[in-house]
Order: sequence, then structure tokens, then C-alpha cells
Amino acid sequence: MNILITGGTGFIGSHTAVDLLQAGHSVILLDNICNSHREVVARIAEISGKVPLFVEGDIRDRKLLDLVFSRNSIDAVIHMAGLKSVAESAAAPETYYDSNLSGSVTLVSAVLKAGVKLFVFSSSATVYGVPRAVPVTEDTLLGRPSSPYGMTKLFIEEMLRDVQQANPSLSIAILRYFNPVGAHPSGLIGEHPVGTPNNLVPYICDVALGRRPELKVFGTDYPTIDGTGVRDYIHVLDLAEGHRRALDFLEAKGGLHTWNLGTGSGFSVFEVISTFERVCQVRVPYTVIDRRKGDVAEVWAGTDKIRAELDWTASRGLPEMLRDSWRWTLANAAQRD
Ligand code: WQD
Repeated sequence: MNILITGGTGFIGSHTAVDLLQAGHSVILLDNICNSHREVVARIAEISGKVPLFVEGDIRDRKLLDLVFSRNSIDAVIHMAGLKSVAESAAAPETYYDSNLSGSVTLVSAVLKAGVKLFVFSSSATVYGVPRAVPVTEDTLLGRPSSPYGMTKLFIEEMLRDVQQANPSLSIAILRYFNPVGAHPSGLIGEHPVGTPNNLVPYICDVALGRRPELKVFGTDYPTIDGTGVRDYIHVLDLAEGHRRALDFLEAKGGLHTWNLGTGSGFSVFEVISTFERVCQVRVPYTVIDRRKGDVAEVWAGTDKIRAELDWTASRGLPEMLRDSWRWTLANAAQRD
């Protein structure tokens, strides 16, 4: 298939592009490079041995979208483009509603006009809000996400459900990511946030490298195994495979389907730190500070549905995730801005 990946030079997008290219698909990457880097295109080609078409642009540019769809016979769209910082979204919600929500509406309109039949959306476990119980399953009543970022994901999900009702020939997969971490084992692509990392693992890597003096642990008074936040970390390679499996399922079965993309296991901040130090043989100094606004105590995925319907589950454990993140960090130490 010829697959358009919006946000294709980003952390998840680049790894998904490699996985699809290696599976024999062709990909077109559309990205406005606001939180990624052009050289990722060459690295995707270096890993996969195939050169993806790269279009620099924004999903809000309807003219550009219509041009891309008219000039390429696109069989499927994997929609990953979007702003994704919880804290930033609280500071400037209007930019998140514009970029994520209205961008997605523009994209879906172009998809419908072009007659594309397969659509995969990058959603987030944040749509569950504060989970009433863990693990969270796909039929868990959705809560109120703790940030405008999470609200945009929820609104886009609802929009997609309505669009698919009105257009049954458009098949849609909604994939709720838990905590993507890790990097391709080549060390050529990985998580490369612009500026200060918001998330735990890239921040730990910066501290381990000596780029930042210490990690701030956001609270040790949660009702969890050791008082720190518990999350379901999933290797980005597993995440990429999950997208391909979802696409294959849509092609075969059609409809609208929602799946959690997590491992089904949760790890605390202290467990991540100690695993990182053991596996990577490097210290991670930290200090404990207050809780971060909007954080939940613990959340991890129910994986029964994806296992039953896609005959697939994530296979990589926390040590491999952290080892791959560290290899990527060391290989690109000079590159980080
Ligand atoms: C993990 C744990 C923190 C940083 C968010 C979004 C989610 C997805 C992934 C985009 C928590 C603790 C973190 C630090 C810390 N976003 N922590 N010190 O908040 O679970 O999920 O990112 O794809 O939609 O909600 O991820 O990595 O920020 O935090 O103590 O410097 O690490 O409190 O318990 P989070 P995270």
C-alpha cells in the first residue's frame, strides 16, 4: 500500500515509516518540522533501504493536502501530526485546538474528498482521564482528560466516530498510546524533542549524559508501590508494529475499531530510574519535588482486546526500551539542540 503518514518525521512517525517500508509498503511523510528534523528522512532511508517521499507542510493547509492526494495514489493515512506537550497545552490551549483539532478536521475532509478508505489515528491513554480502575480497557468510560492536549485527542476521537458513521466506506482505527519510549536499535532515529524534554525517559537520558544536573521526581506521595507515578511504557518499535497490524485488520475487516497500545504492565518512576542505572551502568541523580499538575497516580493498559482481535501484543520489556534510548542518546549527543 501507499501510505501517507502525517507527522512522519516525528518520534513515532519515523519508526512507523521504517516498519512499513520494511514490510514492503511505500510511504509519504508529511510534516511541518515544528518538533522534528529534516535529516530524519535520510535516516529512515538508511535504515530501510528505501527513500520515502517527504512533503514539508501543515495538515491545516487544505490546498497542500488536496495537491498531495491528487498527485499520489494514497491507500491509507496514518495521522500522527499534532502538538503533544501536556504543560504547553495548558499554557496555550488555543494553539492545541487549532493545530490538533482543526488540523484533523481539515485532514479528514481532504481524506473524504480523495476517497481514501483506511485511516489510523494516533490517540492517547490520556482520554481515559483519571482512571477509576487499572488496567484501563477500551470500553472504560472516557473521563475528562487533565489537559487541553488530552481534550483535543478526545474531540478528534468523537469526530472520527461521527465521520465513520456518516461514511461507512471509510475504515478507521483509533490507537490509544500509553507511554512511548525507546529508539531504533541502529541509534539512527529516536526521541529528539526540541528544547527541554517534557517526558521522563528523554529527561533521564539528558541527566545521564550530563546535559542536565539532575532529574526532578514529581512527587512520592501517590498511592502506588513506592509513592511515585506508575505508567505503561511501550517500546516505539512495538508501537510501530501495532500500527501496521491495525492497518492490516482494517484492510481485511473494515469498520471503526479502538485499541490500547500498551504492554499491560506498569512501572514507577523509581523503578525506571533503577532499571536505567542497572542496564545502562550510569547514575541518574534526582531530587524529589511536588507533584506535577494533571498527573495521575497510575495507569496501564488492558491488552486483551488487541491480543484477541489483532493476535498481537507488545513484546519488548523495559530494559530493552531504556538500553535503546540510551544508545540513541549517546549516538546523537552532539546533535541535540
Ligand atoms: C511519566 C511519569 C511523571 C518527568 C504524557 C502524556 C501522554 C503522552 C506521554 C504524548 C509521571 C514522572 C516525568 C519528569 C517525573 N504524550 N516524571 N519527572 O505524563 O505519563 O504522559 O506523555 O504522546 O499523552 O500525558 O508521561 O513521561 O511526562 O511522565 O517524575 O521530569 O514520570 O510524574 O509519573 P505522562 P511523562
